[in-house]
Amino acid sequence: MVTIETPRSPRNRKSANREKWAWLFMRASGVVLIVLIFGHLFINLFTGDGIKAIDFAFVAGKWANPFWQVWDTLMLWLALIHGTNGMRTLVNDYAEREGWRKSLNFSLWTICILLIVLGTLVTTTFDPCPDTSVVSALPQFCSK
Ligand code: HEM
Repeated sequence: MVTIETPRSPRNRKSANREKWAWLFMRASGVVLIVLIFGHLFINLFTGDGIKAIDFAFVAGKWANPFWQVWDTLMLWLALIHGTNGMRTLVNDYAEREGWRKSLNFSLWTICILLIVLGTLVTTTFDPCPDTSVVSALPQFCSK
């Protein structure tokens, strides 16, 4: 008979409750990610001229619309938190030494937060026409 080892997380009662919320978050974010990711792929690849239409102006046009700014920011946040939490599960299950486990999880969340901050800055502050003095570098649709 094969005996499956008891998983090493959760470690205590408090973290058991946290693990329950993390478990629920993975399912809930998974459902929302299906809509966000497949909606994103459908709009970008199937509608209009499809993949041939994707260039700087296409992205600038999308982010001029608050709807797509919110869509992309939500997709960024959920994919990063979902992916990082999924990796945390793998680290908790496989890292043999406590020191390694802690530093791997710390690195994962540090990178996650950094990418969320940088990505959110891009989706919320993106300006396709930044410096009117560099006329030759401006996209065609910017007023010179
Ligand atoms: C189409 C949307 C997605 C759905 C429906 C989905 C669903 C799920 C679910 C239900 C789990 C939990 C599995 C378990 O506990 O056994 C999971 C785990 C995981 N997901 Fe996602 N996910 C999606 C997108 C993503 C994306 C975009 C990433 C990466 C950024 C990702 C990375 C992970 C990782 C690393 C795990 C942990 C794997 C494991 O526990 O074996 N997922 N996913």
